[in-house]
Amino acid sequence: MIIAANFKTNHTRASTKAYMQTLGAFVENEGISDDILVFPPATALEHIITDDNIRMGIQNAYPVEKGSFTGEVGLEQIAEFGIKTILIGHSERRHILGESQEEIAKKFAYFSEAGFEIVYCVGEPKEVREEGIEAVMQYNLAQFEGIDIHYDKLIVAYEPVWAIGTGLSASNEQIEETLSKLQEYVSAPLLYGGSVKVANTKEILAIKHCEGILVGTASWDVNSFCEMAAIAKQLS
Ligand code: PGA
Repeated sequence: MIIAANFKTNHTRASTKAYMQTLGAFVENEGISDDILVFPPATALEHIITDDNIRMGIQNAYPVEKGSFTGEVGLEQIAEFGIKTILIGHSERRHILGESQEEIAKKFAYFSEAGFEIVYCVGEPKEVREEGIEAVMQYNLAQFEGIDIHYDKLIVAYEPVWAIGTGLSASNEQIEETLSKLQEYVSAPLLYGGSVKVANTKEILAIKHCEGILVGTASWDVNSFCEMAAIAKQLS
């Protein structure tokens, strides 16, 4: 299974370092072999040397090696930390930062060409969910436009926008139905994200076609993220 933590705009360099030490020790002591991905803010990237199953990724980057793109980081800056995992298409980047599908597809093409493991996010807003599963799938599949769904280091995260950071997770039936339709289209591992917490981790990981979770808010506390990793181990 894949257990991923998205820090968003939380944690400092110092607190990320402490987090990684606690997490690394926990994973080792518990013998957890599931894939653990951590996406800290770019200021807290670290050249971590831990077990291969704990990987640090970047939440966003500009699709260029280097150049004049004020405020952005490119491949050269990421490579310094040995980072080879990236999150692309997160709903906060689509909806708050205004990234278009075309820009997202460019990022995907660039970082897949560079051999990155890509956690690619899709998910519908509330009004689309209310229209029913057909509208949901139409919306989600449109978010694959320009994306090479056969890329071998692709991981797809289904994250309904209305469930992100709201405390309102999708129901198990909604998750199962959506993942089941997504797996007809893309053969990459499928994660669920959106208000995952310790209390619902077990039931979500038990859903058919769900191969992991992408956790925001509940991952910021290292102890709760460790608990989720331990739950994944029990189910693996
Ligand atoms: P959340 O965020 O767990 O706080 O809902 C999930 C995400 O944005 O990846």
